[in-house]
Amino acid sequence: MSDSVKTIGVLTSGGDAPGMNAAIRAVVRTGIANGVKVKGIRCGYAGLLEEDIVDMGTLDVSNIIQTGGTILYTARCPEFKKKEYQKKGAEICKRHGIDGVVVIGGDGSFNGASKLAQYGINTVGVPGTIDLDIACTEYTIGFDTAINTAMEAMDKLRDTSESHERCSIVEVMGRTAGHIALWTGIASGAEYILTTEEYNGDIQKIINKIQDRRRLGKKNHIIVNAEGIGNSNEMAKVIEIATGVETRATILGHIQRGGNPTCKDRVYASALGTKAVELLCEGKSNRVVGYKDGEFVDYDMQEALAMEKGLDPYLSHISRKLTTK
Ligand code: ADP
Ligand code: F6P
Repeated sequence: MSDSVKTIGVLTSGGDAPGMNAAIRAVVRTGIANGVKVKGIRCGYAGLLEEDIVDMGTLDVSNIIQTGGTILYTARCPEFKKKEYQKKGAEICKRHGIDGVVVIGGDGSFNGASKLAQYGINTVGVPGTIDLDIACTEYTIGFDTAINTAMEAMDKLRDTSESHERCSIVEVMGRTAGHIALWTGIASGAEYILTTEEYNGDIQKIINKIQDRRRLGKKNHIIVNAEGIGNSNEMAKVIEIATGVETRATILGHIQRGGNPTCKDRVYASALGTKAVELLCEGKSNRVVGYKDGEFVDYDMQEALAMEKGLDPYLSHISRKLTTK
């Protein structure tokens, strides 16, 4: 039985990610196990402001651990960045008896959670984004599924690229972060991995490398392009004209955000959802849960938001080694 919180609200916010449902399920089931009521807040902060709030029982989260997307829906809600709406959100929580909220999303969503905490609602953030761009944690819900989806797509592209002796540019998601590009580039044996963190715009270097490899007898070339680099179609034209090698761009897009979560995403999302509820039941607030050095951990939300993260330097190192010649 929890002495600190009586009713927990749970919402998903920002881009959806496979495994969010496993986290929602864990929040509901752990809440019930701890004698706490759980309410689902649909459509993120937008739904909170519209009081789109439903009671959640154990059967409401049956049969969802294996599904992608989020049964609570998600949304972006720009007005929640304004004080008046944050205050209103906290008042709505209080009116519905909600004294703790689990926010599943990215850094933006955590900012919203910290504002709710300022207005007296206990909050815990659970990292949910396929981009892996949350500094305090080595794991974010959905990344594992997304990179496996992208890797499988690249394997398929390689078949047709090889048959036609083409160069294929594959654009993967990651608005400001190149983690998906780096992981999938290594996993699919790409010759070029372009990330916002490391690519300096030197297209001539890529063109030279393609020409060198053609001379060596290489039949196809795979370039992985992080979304933040952009211009994949334009890049394809430039490379085709300069090298004479037929070049096609494929933008994988939102398929990377969908699909059944991998085993890792189901298990880690379950652990993080459970931990978030346990923290609220211990009377903690303004925390973010995560995974670091082999353990599920938690941090002060402001400290977590102030942390910075780049690409894994060792993965960058090996990607350079494997693509040099
Ligand atoms: P993510 O959570 O994946 O980083 P966004 O940056 O789009 O995604 O943020 C999701 C939502 O979180 C926003 O639409 C908004 O409702 C809320 N949010 C973002 N930044 C803030 C902020 N500074 N203050 C309050 N709420 C915020
Ligand atoms: O979920 C993160 C992310 O996938 C980014 O990589 C991408 O830029 C963004 O979401 C796009 O989201 P939407 O198309 O929903 O605005």
